[in-house]
Amino acid sequence: MRSACLMLVAVALMQAQTGKYGAGRPPTPQEVKALDISVPPSGEGLPEGSGTAVEGKEVYARRCQRCHGAEGKGGDEVALVGGSGTLNTPKPLKTVGSYWPYATTLFDYIHRAMPFKDPGSLTSNHVYAVTAYILQLNGIIRANEKMSAESLPKVKMPNRDGFIPDARPDTGKVKGTTKR
Ligand code: HEC
Repeated sequence: MRSACLMLVAVALMQAQTGKYGAGRPPTPQEVKALDISVPPSGEGLPEGSGTAVEGKEVYARRCQRCHGAEGKGGDEVALVGGSGTLNTPKPLKTVGSYWPYATTLFDYIHRAMPFKDPGSLTSNHVYAVTAYILQLNGIIRANEKMSAESLPKVKMPNRDGFIPDARPDTGKVKGTTKR
């Protein structure tokens, strides 16, 4: 599905660039692949590699701590750890540990967006390791548990069942909207 969408984008770009304006060139398969990094909750598309919290601790200290604080407790930027049991209180603390429903999203987010000023600079092994470290700090996995494309989707996040789909049916046409 993802690849199909990207192919459509690639074809559209090709037409836009060569057909009408005669400029640019179609992206190479390698260029498309470099952008095709989305990982859905199922973990489909997770890259090869692995890492443990023990390894991730070191990555975190070098690349993350100055913004997210010691042991992910927050600093200049948001906390990544803690908040367990606070969601239904007047002061909910939403963190990866207390709020996020899927561990695979953590990998995807770090892979595409962190470190904030240098996204894409971590290897897959480093992303797995630092993901493992944040999960371990939240008490979700053990320090020596290896995170990989096989194991990460199996991690059950504490708030996994806290998201309730809206049972109301779609309304279809709403009165007062534009007539066609
Ligand atoms: C220069 C500061 C900086 C560094 C270094 C940094 N981050 Fe971030 N991080 C941010 C900011 C700012 C946000 C919020 C971004 C937003 O909401 O758009 C964020 C958000 C996050 C989030 C989402 C938290 C949430 O609950 O929404 C995660 C997870 C995260 N960072 C992990 C990491 C990891 C892992 C590293 C190291 C590899 C890292 N960050 C390094 C600044 C930083």
